[in-house]
Amino acid sequence: MNPNEIRKQFIDFFKARGHSEIANVPLIPENDPTLLFVNSGMFPLVPYLLGQTHPQGKRVCNFQKSIRVQDIEEVGDDRHTTFFEMMGNWSLGDYFKAEQLPWFMELYSEVFGMDINRLFVSVFEGDESCPRDDESIEIWKGVFAKYGIKARVATKLSDMAQNFDEKGNWIDPTDSVRIFPMSKKDNWWQRGSTPGEVGGPDSEMFFDFGPGTERFADPTYAQWNDTGRFLEIGNSVFLQYQLDENLKWQQLKQKNVDFGGGFERVSAAINGTPDIFMTPLFTPIIATIEAVSGTKYDSNKPSFQVIIDHLRAATFIMADGALPSNKDQGYILRRMIRRAIRHGRLLNIGENFTARIADTIITEYSTAYPHLLPNADKIKAELTIEEEKFRKTLDRGIKELGKAIESKEPIDGAKAFYFFETYGFPLEQTIEELKTAGREIDKDEFEKQFKDAQSVHQEQSRLGSEQRFKGGLGGHTDQHVRYHTATHLLLASLKKVLGGHVHQKGSNITTERLRFDFSHTDKMTDEQKKQVETLVNDAIKADLTVKMEEMTVEEGKARGAEGMFEDRYADRVKVYTIYDPKTSVVFSCEICGGPHVEHTAQVGTFKITKEESSSAGVRRIKAVIE
Ligand code: ALA
Repeated sequence: MNPNEIRKQFIDFFKARGHSEIANVPLIPENDPTLLFVNSGMFPLVPYLLGQTHPQGKRVCNFQKSIRVQDIEEVGDDRHTTFFEMMGNWSLGDYFKAEQLPWFMELYSEVFGMDINRLFVSVFEGDESCPRDDESIEIWKGVFAKYGIKARVATKLSDMAQNFDEKGNWIDPTDSVRIFPMSKKDNWWQRGSTPGEVGGPDSEMFFDFGPGTERFADPTYAQWNDTGRFLEIGNSVFLQYQLDENLKWQQLKQKNVDFGGGFERVSAAINGTPDIFMTPLFTPIIATIEAVSGTKYDSNKPSFQVIIDHLRAATFIMADGALPSNKDQGYILRRMIRRAIRHGRLLNIGENFTARIADTIITEYSTAYPHLLPNADKIKAELTIEEEKFRKTLDRGIKELGKAIESKEPIDGAKAFYFFETYGFPLEQTIEELKTAGREIDKDEFEKQFKDAQSVHQEQSRLGSEQRFKGGLGGHTDQHVRYHTATHLLLASLKKVLGGHVHQKGSNITTERLRFDFSHTDKMTDEQKKQVETLVNDAIKADLTVKMEEMTVEEGKARGAEGMFEDRYADRVKVYTIYDPKTSVVFSCEICGGPHVEHTAQVGTFKITKEESSSAGVRRIKAVIE
């Protein structure tokens, strides 16, 4: 089915049910410093979900272009993209579950023509903030019954296996487990986690592509959501709560519906292919890349998928006014363009190609998004400038790596990550070059160091975007941020107690604990652990100031800033110094993306819970703050 036809069917369906089509807002939020990119259709509707009167009424719908940067590392498979179009319909304090869920099924099965035998749903299983969604369960039973299916409710995820024979075929679709109560992690949607944010339980629909489409040899269906056989294709959120000052969920005055369906995924289900890129949305773009590269999609899927996603996102971001730069939207944009170029090299594309791909993207999307056309020349020119620049960087990188190899400089996995981030070298390429030069490496250890460095980097970018998300909303010091500052205090204290050979080898933070890997051979004694704890807690009690300054990597190093690797693309890096404002004595100084607390008393009390070996020459500490 033609993409424009599906778009029209969706809008017509909701117009026939009293909805007005609302405008698609620009990807770059206007007058809102809390988010880098619009990430869902509900984003501009928050005031109306809270009770303001919408000029177009209580029932609205649209297609909203969206970007979720947090998915960037997932891109390169059959289903993940950063940019996507979200089909949305909303009840702003009007209809609720009893209308939404039957419509949801009617639209997908009767209008889009999906086989109902292939559809199943999830609902919220309940917790202390909100009860199990029995109302949705009953409604879903009735909806399935209308189509001749006795839908049973699962008691656990692996009940999915009851539906299938040993070959994975449905035993009896008319009497089967179709409704899966799931936890908050899966069936609760909220925009953010600061006071004022809205959220609620949700109900998702999944499509079954049938046996043979699993990515795993022996799916137990225990993790069916991830097997590749099933795909989430729509989410009805019942937005009826708001976070109060104490981060407790309170009932909103009005009950809202916020529906979002990923257009790319819905197209995949309509077309019966588990690969979203094999739909008419993407086939013309694939054809252009095949022509430019002389290679086939089937034999180079991940690189094609990255190129398509990233250049599509880049095209839309530039059409909405951002240009490649070293900060904010421009930084993400640059990162995406460079990654696409790097994958172009993997396909052996020797010439500039990004503008050609953008040309096809613009042609394909111009009916639904006419604003692309007047921006086409600008977009293509900017892509070409970026491409020229980055090719030079890549060439420089090949030289640098060659020099490093020649000088016998030690190159470990963390260094390989530096080459990856700075020059776009894939891990495999660095390993190849080292091998060609006759360097022995322990591949597992090397890959582990690379992954650790990457996870620190991701943690930092994630923290950056979380901070961004809550910027301006205030009032709540994020647990992550506190752990992040505690990690700096910990490294500085370890250096003081164990010696200057201690450097960061890896770091991972959750809201519950920090985990920190560092270079040191011997097991720490109880005495040493105690000393480190005391140093950290004294620094917290002294309420030291945390200061951020931007400078060049060289200036940072000259200051003695600790930094596992340079901030890849930025000409300038952030240096966080923790010091006593009265005496100017510096406790810690690190190159880091942040964010951090402003003064150390905000961290809390620090406690080491575990000290153990991580790998040869690397120890690991787990710690909590209370
Ligand atoms: N806002 C909901 C989501 O993004 C629909 O899944």
